[in-house]
Amino acid sequence: MTRRIDLSVNVPPLDQAAAALSAAMAGLAADPTDCRRLADYGELGGSESLRESISRWLAVVRPDQSDQAADWVVCDGALGALFLVLKQQLEPGDPVLLESPGYPALKDIARALQLKALPVSVDRDGMLPESLAAAAAGSGARCVVMVPSLQNPTGANYSASRRRELAQVCRAQGIVVVEDDVYAGLDVDDANEMPSMHSLLPDQCVYVGGASKALMPGLRVAWIRPLPGQREALLERLWPRGLGMPQPGHALFSRLVAADHAFSLLIDCREELAKRNRLANQILGERMWPAASPWCPHRWWPGSPEASAQRHAQAAAGGIVLPAPDAFTLRPARDQGLRLCLGAAADLAELESALTELARLPD
Ligand SMILES: Cc1ncc(COP(=O)(O)O)c(C=O)c1O
Repeated sequence: MTRRIDLSVNVPPLDQAAAALSAAMAGLAADPTDCRRLADYGELGGSESLRESISRWLAVVRPDQSDQAADWVVCDGALGALFLVLKQQLEPGDPVLLESPGYPALKDIARALQLKALPVSVDRDGMLPESLAAAAAGSGARCVVMVPSLQNPTGANYSASRRRELAQVCRAQGIVVVEDDVYAGLDVDDANEMPSMHSLLPDQCVYVGGASKALMPGLRVAWIRPLPGQREALLERLWPRGLGMPQPGHALFSRLVAADHAFSLLIDCREELAKRNRLANQILGERMWPAASPWCPHRWWPGSPEASAQRHAQAAAGGIVLPAPDAFTLRPARDQGLRLCLGAAADLAELESALTELARLPD
């Protein structure tokens, strides 16, 4: 049989998660009160106890965002959260500023909401303040989406000084930041050392977080910290879809946090990703951008459009599935490359086999 290894979807290594989930599901099934609640529609925006569980999780992975749980709106994954926030902030025809290269689904969301997606450049320290200032001034855009921690696809962390410079540009030009922080927990050793964009711009930043990357995506739990005073407006946009949030996934998240299993899973996830990054560094070395942390789940091999297309085709012929190199760019002549999702391989041996195949591709 021909080998096929899919490194295209950004998931954490899931073996340990599956075991913890199995135990949490057994506990949930044995609790009639919880089951009665799960048989119903959920509370719009998430229950108080769910928001408290999120606060406990954030106290570990992003302490400067762990307060004010009453203000949050709970959503069905960060993807649903980003869709909702952009729908609330912008009208069809409005420009929105996105990282290029950046997270491909944001282009899809912009298309679905009929927004004009405009590129802002990034380097190894994150989004470039001068590129943001110029793109906003040239278009009149008043909203930018940033992934400041373990940017997707480059695996860069915006440096602390870069975050401050960006905050200054946003303040000066009245730009609202949507901070997509799905990789919290995997980005820095000491979560107190890196200010979130929200902590630098509390009145001008919508914070979006979720449990998909450091825990597991199947729970479909994510949260939004709206702009001050905008919770009700956001809930209005969410209704009635918000009643239909994935109750079992959200209840399991609370159980995993309450039993501290969520935190041991985070440690397991980091350990496994550290091994996978060491392997990737040994096999592909400097062809990839360096990872900003040892636990970065994705790595970026940039290249010209032609070279990237050729590598992508050869990888596919060798049974390695990767996203199309132009999936990440908003200007096809540049910002292309291969993104390798290290967590997606079944185990280290499978990852080694895929990386060895990729190492044969032309430099
Ligand atoms: C930057 C970024 N934001 C959001 C998401 C979506 O996360 P979720 O699975 O919680 O919808 C992803 C998933 O790859 C991502 O990389």
